[in-house]
Amino acid sequence: MTKVAVAKGDGIGPEIMDAVLSIFDSAKVPLQYEVVEMGKWVFDKGYSNGMTPEAQQTIENLGILFKGPMETPKGKGVKSVNVTARKTWNTYANKRVFQTLHGVDTVFSKAGIPIDITVVRENIEDTYGGIEHMLTHDVALSRRFITRPGSMQVIKYAFEMARKNGAKRISCGHKANIMKQTDGLFLECFYEVAKDYPELKADDIIVDDLCMKLVTRPDLFDVVVLTNLQGDIVSDLCAGLVGGLGFAPSANIGDHICIFEAVHGTAPDIAGKNIANPTALLLSGIAMLRHLGLMESAAMIENALLYTLEQGVHTGDFGDRATKSLNTTEFSTAIINNFGKEPKNAPKPLLPNKPITQTVFKLDKNPMIYSKDAADEKIVGVDLFIESIEQPNAVAEKALQQVGDLFKLVTISNRGTQVWPKGSIFTNLVDLYCARFESVGDVAVTQTDIMELYKRISKEFKVCSAELLNAWGDKKAYSLAQGQ
Ligand code: NAI
Repeated sequence: MTKVAVAKGDGIGPEIMDAVLSIFDSAKVPLQYEVVEMGKWVFDKGYSNGMTPEAQQTIENLGILFKGPMETPKGKGVKSVNVTARKTWNTYANKRVFQTLHGVDTVFSKAGIPIDITVVRENIEDTYGGIEHMLTHDVALSRRFITRPGSMQVIKYAFEMARKNGAKRISCGHKANIMKQTDGLFLECFYEVAKDYPELKADDIIVDDLCMKLVTRPDLFDVVVLTNLQGDIVSDLCAGLVGGLGFAPSANIGDHICIFEAVHGTAPDIAGKNIANPTALLLSGIAMLRHLGLMESAAMIENALLYTLEQGVHTGDFGDRATKSLNTTEFSTAIINNFGKEPKNAPKPLLPNKPITQTVFKLDKNPMIYSKDAADEKIVGVDLFIESIEQPNAVAEKALQQVGDLFKLVTISNRGTQVWPKGSIFTNLVDLYCARFESVGDVAVTQTDIMELYKRISKEFKVCSAELLNAWGDKKAYSLAQGQ
């Protein structure tokens, strides 16, 4: 029998996980569970990543983790257990399905507008690296990594999933009009992958426009793929469209390990009261069953859940206030009592179980994912981020004294807006300037040349950060300052 690792989590986690596992047991789901120690309480025992080494080993051996929500310990320097898990095991795609559930009233269900949107969110990169520095007392910097191989992994997954599920449309949400290098790269990868899926209508949409359209015409969307932070926000928006966090399941998909969990957190305000809604975790569990080929078990449980919701049965967080709400245990018992029943709307077909044998991957080194065609690369300059409270002209004057023959000072910007050689007196300044030095004649320079320049500039200023200016052939691999 297939074995999966189970981590019950913190807050309402144990209550809703017990409810879901009782439904699985009553449905005789052919799975064995190995409960692992993971969560805030494990962190409190002194394990800095929130899991015991045994838990990590078990999850890596079994390849599937079914988890309850986990609390992020408060305090600086402490990382979220959830994010650590997703990143450690490279679950690069976060898939969240948002569907109209009959019995869960929303403005759209009342208006007869059906919703069936799958959001695929990149799960590793972006600002979630948490690589942040204070460059001066006044200026914080967050590094946002978007990589070609990382983007290709998640986008390929999204297209493959869309094809498998017979989707018609796949949209890339982005902000490439502003973030031309990072979101621009993600978008470029999207259309590169799209070429292999001619049967799917692939298009892109700027993320703010996407948000507006999702709340006005959610029925127009099918599969939407986004970078991490934008995907995080858009998927909570979609959760709201179908009735809230209590109905939002999520699957974190990787090549070797997959994690199934609800979108919501530990709900500390209602923890320990046995009143939490287990639906989101149950839907996540149903997705896990399908992932493992347990189609019949998944369909039977899903039909019972949908039937139960259609009957108006509800926990305290949703449904008709005029009818009595059930607690967590009563709600799961109601689902169990409805096994064998089918919802009026779109019952799921009872396809036979075909358990997929889990392959245990034994890796002896970290997989390196890289794209090989970064040819014709040269360094053509550097952006030096320097601390100063002087006016732009004074900064330029000092920088020009140190620039030497190999480089020219091209522009100085402050918070991304050009302030030298041209600018506006109305631009507010902070104590960090970016001085851009490019090689004279755009010739290739070496890292040693850059370091010499760095040394000279540091005679006048504290250099807080430096970024090489690369070019691939004639293409500049960096953005221009606003106004440059
Ligand atoms: P939350 O999702 O725990 O709660 C937000 C609101 O939704 C609360 O009013 C809560 O009572 C309600 N709620 C959430 N799930 C519910 C359910 N199943 N049934 C009924 N009501 C429900 O978000 P919050 O308060 O921001 O985070 C609490 C903790 O959870 C934090 O430590 C956070 O880091 C963690 N968290 C963990 C996640 C995970 O394990 N994947 C995801 C999100 C947050």
